[in-house]
Amino acid sequence: MQRRWASEDKKNEQTPFHFQLFESITQRVQKEKEEQLRQAQMQNRTARGRFFATMTVCFIAACIGYYWGQALPPPPTTDSTAPLESTVPPKHNISEANMEAAWTDFRDIVGNENITLERSELESHSGSSWSSHPAEPGDVPFCVVKPGNTQEVSAIMKICHERKIPVTAYSGGTSLEGHFAATRGGICIDFSRMDKIIKLHKEDLDVVVQPAVGWEILNEELAKDNLFFPPDPGPGAMIGGMVGTGCSGTNAYRYGTMKDWVLSLTVVLADGTIIKTRQRPRKSSAGYDLTRMFVGSEGTLGLVTEATLKVTVKPQHTSVAVCAFPSVRQAADCVFKVVGAGVPIAAIEILDDVQMKCINDAGMTKKSWKNAPTLFFKFAGTPSSVKEQIGQVQTLAKNAGSVSFEFAKSEQEREDLWQARKEALWSVMAQGSGDEDMAVWTTDVAVPISRLPQIIEETKENIGKSGLLGSIVGHVGDGNFHSIILYNKKTEYEKAKGLVHDMVKRAIELEGTATGEHGVGLVKRDYLPHEVSTSTVNAMRRLKLAFDPLCLLNCDKIVRVQPLKKGEVDKW
Ligand SMILES: Cc1cc2nc3c(=O)[nH]c(=O)nc-3n(C[C@H](O)[C@H](O)[C@H](O)COP(=O)(O)OP(=O)(O)OC[C@H]3O[C@@H](n4cnc5c(N)ncnc54)[C@H](O)[C@@H]3O)c2cc1C
Ligand SMILES: *[C@@H]1O[C@H](CO)[C@@H](O)[C@H](O)[C@H]1NC(C)=O
Ligand SMILES: *[C@@H]1O[C@H](CO)[C@@H](O)[C@H](O)[C@H]1NC(C)=O
Repeated sequence: MQRRWASEDKKNEQTPFHFQLFESITQRVQKEKEEQLRQAQMQNRTARGRFFATMTVCFIAACIGYYWGQALPPPPTTDSTAPLESTVPPKHNISEANMEAAWTDFRDIVGNENITLERSELESHSGSSWSSHPAEPGDVPFCVVKPGNTQEVSAIMKICHERKIPVTAYSGGTSLEGHFAATRGGICIDFSRMDKIIKLHKEDLDVVVQPAVGWEILNEELAKDNLFFPPDPGPGAMIGGMVGTGCSGTNAYRYGTMKDWVLSLTVVLADGTIIKTRQRPRKSSAGYDLTRMFVGSEGTLGLVTEATLKVTVKPQHTSVAVCAFPSVRQAADCVFKVVGAGVPIAAIEILDDVQMKCINDAGMTKKSWKNAPTLFFKFAGTPSSVKEQIGQVQTLAKNAGSVSFEFAKSEQEREDLWQARKEALWSVMAQGSGDEDMAVWTTDVAVPISRLPQIIEETKENIGKSGLLGSIVGHVGDGNFHSIILYNKKTEYEKAKGLVHDMVKRAIELEGTATGEHGVGLVKRDYLPHEVSTSTVNAMRRLKLAFDPLCLLNCDKIVRVQPLKKGEVDKW
């Protein structure tokens, strides 16, 4: 201690002033240098710190981003449409663990007895022998759930939304283009328990119904009050599915299609939200027309749990006339003339020679018929107006070259004559009965009415050349007709597909549509861009994803929601 003091003192004593000055300068410089170094080190350290901090933040952001990508739809886009190339394949969770857990949740809502796991029911709820989409082995749901009211449907959807479980809706099961194939597994919601006519407002001419009310039963009920609901699709079809496909039928020529008869809908959306599209007035200009958006949406935008439908007064008198022609072109020409003359008939249906022969062979009708192209007319109005219409049509038919003209003189005759039209599909199916490999492919197209003779003639020629049995049946007053093709699933599938393809392509080239009433389903998706343009389909896809970002509702129907997989082909 001492020594140190001594030496320091010595130093101070011995050091001259300039040295002291120099020393103090060097010390200052040294200090400054040290300070600089310290600062540099600090800066260095903060830079490194910042670098690591940034890295950590990035990592966390990436983790969140990854989770976000897994859990939520892609970030909002500024585009108005959703092109197929930029869509992200939907991510559902149909793992056994998830489905089993969901099953428990559903049981708490609808009860054990209202959920089915039975194989045969799963199959019948995802395909049918009259659907043109051949059922694929994997296209079955895990279970069929049968809710009893709107609240239950909403509760089920909330679970599916949370658990990312895809859903197909099922009402009558008569749709034809693979509409309810469970392409993503998941669950099927069967509306059969929701089959009540809730309220008829006679004085307002409307009726409130649940989705599993069949159009035939509804009409039986309405007839008690002399009322009538015109849309008449396949036997067994129900309001939920009829809204789904935006159906029509023989009465559409006079009364319009399903979209003209729905006033309002109660709909459960993909996340379980319940909306009602509007109230009951006959007309309304309030806001977007969501009612019509849901009509024809094939269960891809929401689930219909209640519908308010328009009804009309039953015509005083109806009759039917049947009239055969030597060729299908003459029959089609006659349609063109009757429509052009503005005769207010209720329906015009065409059945070609092949179809008439099938009906005769099947022997399901009381009468036997000429194996010739035949027109079926339905008349409605007062007795005198019906009589006048029959007279007008008879003359027009004669001018077009008809070889026979019969009209019903009694109610019974009317039923007997119309029966043939109703048996069309079954009579073709009967031709293949007994052979498990035989199937029917029913397809429908529509064209502007003046193009009808051409397309029917060309289609018939094409079917003739193919060697397959194929009939032509149609609601020709609307330029809409079907082809029912019988084929062997194992050996003639490609041939049948080719025929349908040519028919659809021809219809689109004639400024028509790939489907006049059956809808797109799975089978006609790839025709849509050719009919309405790719941009229009991209706009439809944007709408689909806006309402159902997780693509839970009848995924894959109407529009594709992910780019084609390897080996998958565009049907065009
Ligand atoms: C012999 C025969 C003749 C036919 N004739 C005609 C005809 O003349 N005109 C015509 O237009 N069609 C016709 N069809 C086709 C069929 O009858 C119609 O497409 C009908 O509208 C389907 O109703 P559905 O209750 O059977 O519906 P489903 O087959 O049960 O479902 C149809 C679609 O709607 C969806 N869906 C079902 N319920 C609901 C709901 N509650 N909410 C939301 N979506 C739902 C389904 O997921 C599916 O996509 C015929 C069919 C057959 C078998
Ligand atoms: C699927 O659901 C199960 C059961 O709920 C869950 O354990 C699993 O993590 C889910 N998988 C994904 C990919 O979300
Ligand atoms: C299941 O459905 C039947 C028939 O509609 C009904 O009586 C029963 O109450 C339902 N079960 C539950 C738990 O809701």
